[in-house]
Amino acid sequence: MNKQPVGIFDSGVGGTSIWKEIHRLLPNESTIYLADSINAPYGPKGKEAIINLCIKNTELLLEKGCKLIVVACNTATTNAIDYLRDTYKVPFIGIEPAIKPAALQTKTNAVGILATQGTLSSALFSKTSGKFASNVTVIEQDGDGIVDLIESGKLYSEAMKALLTVYLEPMIKAHIDYLVLGCSHYPYLMPLLVEILPKHVKIIDSGEAVARQTKHILENHMLCNTQTSKPKIEFYTNGSPEVLDQLLGNDYSVTYLDF
Ligand code: DGL
Repeated sequence: MNKQPVGIFDSGVGGTSIWKEIHRLLPNESTIYLADSINAPYGPKGKEAIINLCIKNTELLLEKGCKLIVVACNTATTNAIDYLRDTYKVPFIGIEPAIKPAALQTKTNAVGILATQGTLSSALFSKTSGKFASNVTVIEQDGDGIVDLIESGKLYSEAMKALLTVYLEPMIKAHIDYLVLGCSHYPYLMPLLVEILPKHVKIIDSGEAVARQTKHILENHMLCNTQTSKPKIEFYTNGSPEVLDQLLGNDYSVTYLDF
């Protein structure tokens, strides 16, 4: 059981930002990553459609023998994780916007959150935001279009810079000192965000926390791979393998799969 892979899925290539943290913290673990790029973006889809896509991804990972599944997508987590946990026996780890640390640490009492429409409108996000950030001004911004640009290989493009400049302007005007990245695609925007935002604004995402939680749950369920043999690392996409290749730095092979 312990040598079985950890499964990870996202609506596309963005969840590789989470995979990198998991692989760094748990180098012994074999992993299978699914990029559901053909169905990206999940953000504008309704809850039911998102749940159905998550079922499809989960069942493929279970067929491939995964012992634990990381939902490396805020939109999928906030809309479907309860359903997945109620339906399947394996443990699920999700990712949610790190609104709590931002709300606790802000000095200007204003934080920005960039996430998809699906995440911002979810009941889970409202609950977390209401619980931890009710005394803080939260500037929410739907990152409409960002995922599409990343999925089509236009990460560091003029179009992306223009979009981010528009999205961040109200946050800068509101004097935010924290920007929460509420989508696993967004850590790849870091160089552009740093360029656009004032120097004092701290940018936080949940990638490292997800990796720590994955380790914790593997240990708790006695699922860690204690063997030191080389782990098997697999990446599958139903979109263009080149975009995934670029983000992985051509260090791993990416396989096209129709799923
Ligand atoms: N990576 C997904 C997330 O974290 C992107 C969602 C989308 O496909 O719109 O929300």
